Amino acid sequence: MSDEQLWHEVDDYLTARLAPGDEALDAALRDSAAAGLPSIAVAPNQGKLLQLLAQVQGARHILEIGTLGGYSTIWLGRALPPDGRLITLEYEHRHAEVATRNLARAGLDKQVEVRVGPALESLPRLADENPPPFDLVFIDADKANNARYLEWALRLTSTGSLIVLDNVVRGGRIADQDNHDPDVEGTRAALEMIAEHPRLSGTAVQTVGVKGHDGFALARVLA
Ligand code: SAH
Ligand code: DHB
Ligand code: MG
Repeated sequence: MSDEQLWHEVDDYLTARLAPGDEALDAALRDSAAAGLPSIAVAPNQGKLLQLLAQVQGARHILEIGTLGGYSTIWLGRALPPDGRLITLEYEHRHAEVATRNLARAGLDKQVEVRVGPALESLPRLADENPPPFDLVFIDADKANNARYLEWALRLTSTGSLIVLDNVVRGGRIADQDNHDPDVEGTRAALEMIAEHPRLSGTAVQTVGVKGHDGFALARVLA
């Protein structure tokens, strides 16, 4: 059995027991695929991890950058208390439309708002609205802008907030100093910012599974 096959089998084992789907989650993936969206959503056990992180945070305000079909959004949205709110930013109209339907089917349409457009335009508008600080920010869009997204996340959070970045390892490309792909450079810049910024304490962990070899970075906002 190849390493990848083994990772797949273990993820299937873990997911079946600890992060099983349900009607809304399964339908969100089904309709995303049917609409031709790329199948790059977080894995179910990763979605459950995001939900747990939001619950540990006691999150009432969540920001997501990169909605796709709203699969990670459903996991995160379900962590919210009844008066909690999630704003998710998506560049592609088509993705946002699919996500809006998926979120409505999950019963989250009152709590979740999908904002369409380039996140670097949506973020300053959002900041102008002076929203309450976000307790959790999930960054999962175009990786070339990861450091910029992290800067905005810092402006939109407060002490104790958690910032999560997806896809920071990308099959090990992050550590290949000869790789100057803009996505890789953008993620390196974000990781360096986490390492050096006086208001951030963070780390990154590798993951293997149905999404291959990748990883998450987590950063806590300090005073
Ligand atoms: N968080 C989702 C996956 C997101 S995939 C999940 O796990 O279910 C990345 C998404 O970011 C795609 O839908 C892509 O269209 C969107 N994206 C790419 N560039 C963007 C930008 N500049 N602003 C906002 N969204 C962007
Ligand atoms: C890609 C993007 C993601 O957010 C992800 O989790 C996996 C893959 C991609 O653009 O290939
Ligand atoms: Mg991702």
